Amino acid sequence: MAILITGGAGYIGSHTCVELLDNGEQIVVLDNFSNSSPEALRRVERITGKAISILTGDLRDKELLKRAFADHRIESVIHFAGLKAVGESVQVPLAYYDNNVTGTVHLLEAMREAGVRLLVFSSSATVYGDPLRLPLNEQHPLKPTNPYGRTKLMIEEILGDLANSDPSWRIASLRYFNPVGAHESGLIGENPLGKPNNLMPFIAQVAIGSRPTLSIFGSDYATTDGTGIRDYIHVVDLAVGHLAALDRLRRIEGIFTVNLGTGMGHSVLEMIRAFESASGQSIAHKFVNRRPGDVASCFADVTLASTLLNWKSTRDVKQMCMDTWRWQRQNPVGYPAS
Ligand code: NAD
Ligand code: WQD
Repeated sequence: MAILITGGAGYIGSHTCVELLDNGEQIVVLDNFSNSSPEALRRVERITGKAISILTGDLRDKELLKRAFADHRIESVIHFAGLKAVGESVQVPLAYYDNNVTGTVHLLEAMREAGVRLLVFSSSATVYGDPLRLPLNEQHPLKPTNPYGRTKLMIEEILGDLANSDPSWRIASLRYFNPVGAHESGLIGENPLGKPNNLMPFIAQVAIGSRPTLSIFGSDYATTDGTGIRDYIHVVDLAVGHLAALDRLRRIEGIFTVNLGTGMGHSVLEMIRAFESASGQSIAHKFVNRRPGDVASCFADVTLASTLLNWKSTRDVKQMCMDTWRWQRQNPVGYPAS
């Protein structure tokens, strides 16, 4: 039996594929490569020495989904596929609702028809919106502040309705905090197309010399040093969290939602210093205005992940920076065009 991985060529998906294959799982990846490269999957095969079945196409293609379940013995689905750029989601909300929400509904229909009832879904801490209290636990009110975040919340609600209608579903929604870092081989990592939106890839591109200066969005937040605080989590720890969720779902029926973070917050300036020390490069930076929609601080309460999944992150910020730098150095322009 195999696990269908939607969006498996992407940043988090490719790292999760490695952990799954290393644990003896069989996988089938479905990806339209709208934000990734087939090279990522070749690298996963190189790291693990195992072959991957690849279905190239879109989640919204009903025929493709039907074939995926007909041609492979699928036991479960890990659903990473989605668009994820917050700013873009404000510009083109319908593209986000269509890709993320409609795509997920099609996937769920295909699963139901095929009798596959086990799903791990990539949700996001973005569903909480502006934190009313910290650390954020899973009971915190949900009030996303942009269309991207609303797609994640809508999907969580759809999954809740589905589980309610048919208790044989086994569903985990994993609310990721800020994934960073790369596989220790330096063969796979985050490969943003165009100018990075996120802090860590931007720092790495300044370090390698492909961007001149990092703009720090805001220096007057009510934080220790005035810059924003986030819960950065190593992507390999995050990947391992998916195995823990899968393991629990295989043993126990039902639906759950859980934060995947470290429980610790780090400021932008702390991340810059940690990266400078890991890379030996200095990161040119300047302070600019706050980015609209940003919050001062955001970090997870990770108690539930530990009690429910017996999972904890193990890699610290130093490791996150060292691994990002190794990936960036070995792949200064990301994956080669294929
Ligand atoms: P990514 O863009 O690297 O990976 C997503 C993958 O899905 C890509 O390979 C893309 O080509 C594919 N894809 C997108 N739409 C598709 C479609 N309609 N059909 C088939 N394939 C499609 O993103 P990521 O960082 O690996 O994120 C994975 C998931 O985790 C996403 O759902 C994202 O919203 C969620 N998430 C990411 C973060 C983060 O900061 N990276 C944080 C929280 C949640
Ligand atoms: C981190 C910190 C910025 C870039 C986003 C999404 C969220 C989730 C994870 C998917 C903040 C500062 C950043 C830069 C900066 N994704 N920063 N200069 O905004 O916490 O979360 O990714 O679900 O939904 O919103 O992450 O990496 O963009 O920012 O100063 O060039 O770095 O202001 O304090 P964010 P980020």
